[in-house]
Amino acid sequence: MKARRPPTAADLAQVRADHEAIAAHLKRHQEALVGFELSNALGELEEFARRLRRHIRLEEDILLPAYEALGAAPRGGKAEFFADEHRKIEAKVAELLASVRGLSSGSTPRSAVVALIEREARLKELLSHHEQREEMFMIRLLEKSLGGK
Ligand SMILES: [Fe+2]
Ligand SMILES: [Fe+2]
Repeated sequence: MKARRPPTAADLAQVRADHEAIAAHLKRHQEALVGFELSNALGELEEFARRLRRHIRLEEDILLPAYEALGAAPRGGKAEFFADEHRKIEAKVAELLASVRGLSSGSTPRSAVVALIEREARLKELLSHHEQREEMFMIRLLEKSLGGK
C-alpha cells in the first residue's frame, strides 16, 4: 500500500467520529425498519453505506499505508487483514442494500424484517470487532508515532 500523504491527528479524529456516525446511521435505519418506514430505512442505510465507503477510503489511502510503514503490526493487527475485512464488510453492505431496496411496504411480511435485522446484527458484530482492532492497533500506533514528532 502506498500513502497519498502522511496522516494527521485530524485524520485519526475523523476515523473515530466516522465509527460513531456509521453506528448511528445503522441504528436509525433499524429503528425505521421496525416501524415499517421503509423509505426512511433505505435512506439511512444508503447514508450509512456512503459514509462507510468514504471512511474505508480514508483508512486505505492514508492510515493503513502509514501504519504498515511503521512495521510494528502485531498478530491480528496486520494492515492486509484490515483491508480484507473491508472487502467482506462492503460485500455484506451491498447485499443488505439490495435486500432493503427490494422491500415494499404493501407486501413486506414481518418475518422479512426480522430476518433482515438478524443479518444486520452479524454485520454490526463484524464492524464492531473490526473497529475495536483498528483502535487497539492502527489508531493507537499512529497516534503514538504522531505524538513522538
Ligand atoms: Fe476499517
Ligand atoms: Fe474504521
